[in-house]
Amino acid sequence: MNVVEANGAKIPAIGLGTMTLQGEVCVGAVKTALQLGYRHVDTAERYNNEAEVGEGLHQGLRAAGLRREDVFVTTKVYHDKLAADDFQRSFDESLTKLKLPWVDLLLIHWPNPKIPLAETLAVLCKAKRDGRAKHVGVANFTTALLEEAVRLADEPLVTNQIEVHPFLDQGKVLAACRSHGLAVTAYCPPARGKIAGNETLERIGRAHGKSASQIALRYLVQQGIIPIPRTANPAHLAANLAIFDFSLTDDEMAEVEALRQPGTRVVNPPHAPKWDD
Ligand SMILES: NC(=O)c1ccc[n+]([C@@H]2O[C@H](COP(=O)([O-])OP(=O)(O)OC[C@H]3O[C@@H](n4cnc5c(N)ncnc54)[C@H](OP(=O)(O)O)[C@@H]3O)[C@@H](O)[C@H]2O)c1
Repeated sequence: MNVVEANGAKIPAIGLGTMTLQGEVCVGAVKTALQLGYRHVDTAERYNNEAEVGEGLHQGLRAAGLRREDVFVTTKVYHDKLAADDFQRSFDESLTKLKLPWVDLLLIHWPNPKIPLAETLAVLCKAKRDGRAKHVGVANFTTALLEEAVRLADEPLVTNQIEVHPFLDQGKVLAACRSHGLAVTAYCPPARGKIAGNETLERIGRAHGKSASQIALRYLVQQGIIPIPRTANPAHLAANLAIFDFSLTDDEMAEVEALRQPGTRVVNPPHAPKWDD
C-alpha cells in the first residue's frame, strides 16, 4: 500500500470511511476491506460504531494474517467533548470500544470556539506522549484555526481531515496544510454518491477503463491527498482500491479541477466553522 508521509507519520494513501455503518454490516465491511488490501480505517466516537469497527479489525487481522501494526486506525473526539476531562473520558471509551491499547491517529472531530483550543491541544498531545495515539491531528479546521493549532500544539499535527472532492474548491486550506507539513485526509471523496454519472468523470473513466468514482479518487491520490470513501459493498470496496494502476494526464487533472463550483459542500452542520471558500 502506498503511504503519504507527513510530520513523522506514514499514512496509507487510501482508507475506509465507516460513518453510518452499523452492526454486522460494519464488522463485515472492515473485515472484508482488510482482506482486500485496505490498511487504513477511519471511525469516530460520534459514529457509534467503534465496537463494530474494532470487531471487524480484529477479525480482519486474523483472516488476513496481519499484525496490528500493519493497519492504520483513526478515531476522533467530538466537539462537545473538547474540555480536558471530557476529552480524556471520550478517548478512554473509544479505546475500550475498539479493544485497542492505542490508535494510530487521534483527531479533534470539529473545532469548538467555546473551549480554548490550547486546553484541547494539551490533552490531545498528551495522548501522543502517553503512547495511546501514535499521531495526532485535527478535522474541519480552517486556515485560521490551523495556524492557531500549529502554533499551540507541542506535538506535530499530521493531518487535517476535511471535505475534498472534485466539485469543491479547497485550495486555500490545502495550501495551508502543505505549508505546515500536514497531510490532507479527504472525507466525502465521492461527494456522497454525486460523482457517479458526472459526464466529464465518466468520459475520462472510459479512457482508462475506470468508473467516475475511481477517477475522483485517483484525482485526489495523485495530489497526495488521502481519500477515505465509505462503502460496505464488496465490489465498491475493491474498485476504490484499484486506483494505483493508472495515472491521469495533466490535461485530465485540469479537466477534473475545472469541475469546481460554489455551493457544492456536502457536510455543513450548524457547528461548522466559517469556511475559507
Ligand atoms: N471528519 C468529519 O467531519 C467527517 C465528515 C464526514 C465523513 N467523514 C469520514 O469520511 C468518510 C466518507 O464520507 P461519507 O461516509 O460521508 O460519504 P462518501 O464516502 O462521500 O459517500 C459514501 C457513498 O458513496 C458511495 N460509493 C462509495 N464508493 C463507491 C464506488 N466505488 N462507486 C459508486 N459509489 C460509491 C457509497 O455507496 P455504496 O454504499 O452503494 O457503495 C455511499 O453511498 C466517512 O465514512 C467518515 O469516515 C468525516
